[in-house]
Parts: sequence; structure tokens; C-alpha cells
Amino acid sequence: MNQDAYADLTSHDTFTKGFPAATFKRLRDEDPCAWIEETDGGKGFWAITRYEDIKELNRKPHIFSSAKGIRLEEQSEEEYLARRTFQETDPPEHTRQRMILHRAFSHKMIAKYEDLVRELACDVCDTALQGNQVDVVKEIARKLPMRMLGRVLGTPDEDGEWLVDKGDELIANSDPEFTDHVIDQVDTDEYRLMPFRSPAGKDIYDYAKKQMVERLHTKMDDVLSLLLEPNKDGDVLSELEFKNFFALAVAAGNDTTRYSLAMSMYHLSNQPELINQLKGKADDDPIWDTAVEEFIRYAAPTLHFRRTALEDYKLHGKTIKAGDKVVLWFTSGNFDERQFETPENINITRSPNQHMAFGQGGPHACLGMWLARLEVKVTLQELLRRVDTMEQAAPEKYLRSNFIRGIKSLVVRFDKAA
Ligand code: HEM
Repeated sequence: MNQDAYADLTSHDTFTKGFPAATFKRLRDEDPCAWIEETDGGKGFWAITRYEDIKELNRKPHIFSSAKGIRLEEQSEEEYLARRTFQETDPPEHTRQRMILHRAFSHKMIAKYEDLVRELACDVCDTALQGNQVDVVKEIARKLPMRMLGRVLGTPDEDGEWLVDKGDELIANSDPEFTDHVIDQVDTDEYRLMPFRSPAGKDIYDYAKKQMVERLHTKMDDVLSLLLEPNKDGDVLSELEFKNFFALAVAAGNDTTRYSLAMSMYHLSNQPELINQLKGKADDDPIWDTAVEEFIRYAAPTLHFRRTALEDYKLHGKTIKAGDKVVLWFTSGNFDERQFETPENINITRSPNQHMAFGQGGPHACLGMWLARLEVKVTLQELLRRVDTMEQAAPEKYLRSNFIRGIKSLVVRFDKAA
């Protein structure tokens, strides 16, 4: 954790030093609705950092709209209309696509994938754990989520690696390790109508179109086909809506789960007592569910999502004006002492644990939460079946991003289970 209490939240560089926990604590304690100036030409934004306030605003989409962008970036109307996904719409418009997708991502539907996740997790762990030292983020956490999401969506297995690379280029568009078009360092105007202002957005669009055309010719038993079916009123998604959903899924479903797994393995490597608590527990022991929830609370990979105020709103004596950008720092909410006892400690039996890593209520709560939970749980079970000890062997490296929080490299020494 980064102990600078005055870290610049607008700078991607801040987050390469780790999560600025002290800055968020100061904001929660002293200025929970803080005005933050932007230096890159942005209009500035309100930073909402307390759990209860985030929850309150997130549940008022009629006042705090997603339909003008959900990241800090200022978008023109043209850019917004070209790139918006259903996540960047408000009810009732949002509801149509959400209802179609919900069927495929519900708890009940996702539970059916447990055997498949286990098969992939066994394969990934067996391959990664050959020697006695490995970068667990690169070889385990990065490998599994896109392969799994590909199976759910219905894309061919052999495209998995390519989709992971493209997903990284999109969502890690501020980290030079993942893209040549670093958003705050080079001119990305040419790509302003593409997801994340990235050339990878064009590749993803082309790929999505190919998947769409294939399914319009031959119906397949997968989520992409489901998405192309008309709803009960006969409406179908436009080509642009389909392509933007695909880009959203590749971006949202890939690295958030990766970084949740990365953070789980970081704690296991640094707190041997956690391994003792979990190792040997039956797969259906309730401790796995509380442990996964706690690891995800702590990891909270989506640092924030933005809303735009549609009317004036009073909070903590400040007036948020209609048109202002309002940033809900979900990750900060997960460390709010008003909600969680000793939030800086991992407690794998914490219950209740109403964290906001997946959002907190509101229409946009994470669609993929059950898939993410299942992947983290099964992967940790298979990992701990194979190792007796884990120890961090080199300093971890953090993603350069003030949007996604993640350990991108974690080298671990381990003893294999006898
Ligand atoms: C641990 C892993 C994950 C975390 C922490 C996470 C976090 C979030 C958060 C905080 C939101 C709310 C966004 C908002 O308020 O605007 C969200 C929405 C969303 N997530 Fe996830 N996510 C994860 C995994 C996934 C996966 C595996 C998928 C797979 C498809 C996914 C797809 C989505 C989609 C489509 C939305 C938009 C939902 C809507 O607007 O109705 N996420 N996610």
C-alpha cells in the first residue's frame, strides 16, 4: 500500500506505487465529497469516498447518470454515441440489454460451469507449477478468465490468447507494458471513436462482427447467439450495440478477475496462516465463499466508475452542480472503517461482507459477479491442492492505471504438495 496521504488521484503514475490507501483514508475522514482538479484539460470531478455515500448515489441513476460516460475521460457527443455500451446507459434504456444478458450470467446458470472452470483451472495450474518458482499473475491469473469467458460467450478456445492481449490493450490503455498507444502520452485522436480510444478497439470490433455474421448464418448454443435473438417485443441489437457489448465483455471480464486472483495469491504468499486455514478444506466448505468474498473486497480491481449529475445535489455541505462529474471510488468504500472492522486486514471468515467491489445495488451491479466468484474459488482450490507453501520471491509490480487496480507481476516460490 502507498502511504502518501496526498497522492494525485488523477495521475496513472500514482498507482504504480500501489493503492494510495492513506489518501483515501484522509479523504473519507476529512473531505468525503472532495472537488479534485484535473490537469489534463478535464473539467474536474467530485470524489466520493465513503461507503454509505457511494451506495446512496449509486442507487439514484435518475440523478447520477451513466449516460454521459463512466470513466474520467471527457467525451464529445460523437465519441459517446459511437462507443457507448449498455453500461453507459440509464434505465429504462439500460434494462432491455441487461434483461437479455442476465439470463446467461445468473447465479443458477453460472453454477453449471463449475466442472468446466475446474477443468481449465487444473490445466492452468498443472502447466504453471512445473518448477518451484513462477510469476503467478502471468501464468495463472492471466490465463484463466478469458479462456473461461470465451467458453461462456462461445468464441473458439484458440482465440483466447489473442483476446487476452487485445483486452489488455483496451483496459490497460495507460500502461506502456500493454500498449504502444498510452492514453496520456501519445495522440490517440485517430481512435477516438473506438473503445478506450485504442487501436485494439478496431481489432475487437472486426472480430465481433465476424462472430456476429457466423451466428446470423448458423445459430449456436452460446451467449453471443442469445444476444442476437429478438426480445419479446421483436427488438434486436444493432451491429454497433453488439460490437460494443463484445468489447465491454472482453475488457470487463478479463482483467478484473485476473487482478482478484492476483491479490488472493499475494495474500496467500505473504500470510502462511491463510494457507493453513484453507488447505484441506472440502470444496463445499463455507470458508471458501467467505474467503473469496474477502479477497475480492480487498482486491477491488475497479477503482472507480463515474456518473454525471443531472440536477443539483447536496452532500456533506457541498453542492454538486448539474453537469458535474461525480466519481464513485468503490475501492475506497471497501476500506471504509465506518463499514468494515479493521478493513486493512484480511479476515477470510468475515461475515457479513457487503463489499462494493461489484458495485453496490443500483442497476449496473456487476453482471459477471457469479462467474468471477466461481473462477476465483475454483482456481484457489486447485492451486492449494497442488502447493503446501507459497512465498513471495520478488517485489510485486502494479498496473499503471487510476481506473483498474492490479498486481501485474507476482513471482512466488512454492513447495509442491507431496
Ligand atoms: C472480480 C471481478 C469483477 C469485478 C471486481 C467487477 C466489477 C464491476 C463493477 C464495480 C461494475 C459496476 C459498474 C458501474 O457501476 O458502472 C461492473 C459492471 C459490469 N461487469 Fe463486472 N466485474 C468483475 C467481473 C466481471 C466479469 C467476469 C464479467 C463478464 C462478463 C463482467 C461484466 C460486467 C458488465 C457487463 C458490467 C455492466 C453491467 C451493467 O451496466 O448493467 N464483470 N463490474
